[in-house]
Amino acid sequence: MEIELKPQRYKEVIAHYDVACGYGPQLLAAQKAFGRAGNIIDTELNAAGVVKRSVFSETECAEINAKFAAGLRQEFDRDVTIQLFKRIFATDIDKDIISYFGSEYFPIGSDFYETPVDETLRESDGWHCDAGPSKHLIMAAYFTPSEADAANTIFLNKEITHYMKEAGYVFCNIQHRITHFDVLTDAMSLPRVPVNALEIKAGDVVVFDAPNLLHRRLIPKIAPRRLMMTALCPSFKPWVEVVENSNFPLPLDGETFPPLPGYAQESAS
Ligand SMILES: [Fe+2]
Repeated sequence: MEIELKPQRYKEVIAHYDVACGYGPQLLAAQKAFGRAGNIIDTELNAAGVVKRSVFSETECAEINAKFAAGLRQEFDRDVTIQLFKRIFATDIDKDIISYFGSEYFPIGSDFYETPVDETLRESDGWHCDAGPSKHLIMAAYFTPSEADAANTIFLNKEITHYMKEAGYVFCNIQHRITHFDVLTDAMSLPRVPVNALEIKAGDVVVFDAPNLLHRRLIPKIAPRRLMMTALCPSFKPWVEVVENSNFPLPLDGETFPPLPGYAQESAS
């Protein structure tokens, strides 16, 4: 299949989310209001675009897996979601995130996912970056381990992602996403790019720069995968104040990054 490259597309994504929806000014204002600069660290999240930390114990994973069996959904189990956030954000994950934004943060959307063995691959499962504000994060908390081939979300590197944004692949039409990246680098006479496949233990949490790091999901072959997926945005206030005084986090199946209050409801995208 011919891949239709869209070199202007990444600029349109910025114009929509950062400008028309207000996420650019929100980041700057959140950075200005930030009071924990002393907690900023050198993090793999900034260096490589992805960081993994061990958070939940085996016992905690067993408890959460039992809840999965009963059909966890964020909109019905908001208290479970918030308890999990409290555990995660009490670890150095908090420092990774504030060091990425230079500000406080809040979970704008979150949900629980169980991926069955041999689930059918979707168009969205090709290599891509997430369309959204140019600074946002995706956090995946795993309650099952990766398999022998480290089959989970896999990543390329920031350099090739940047190159492919300008070349027009990163935000191309969903049906043009490819699963074998060598097809594209070979066609463009570029060196092949190594794939970063993290080995995941049950209880690990991975945070990644989804708008700026090419990634794709692999389907489990041996056992179902269970995780909580969360989208994070910059915030004026600590996350717990935002979440406990509002209806955040929202389920992730709606519009993840709606226009912020005071910004246009419709724009080009
Ligand atoms: Fe994604």
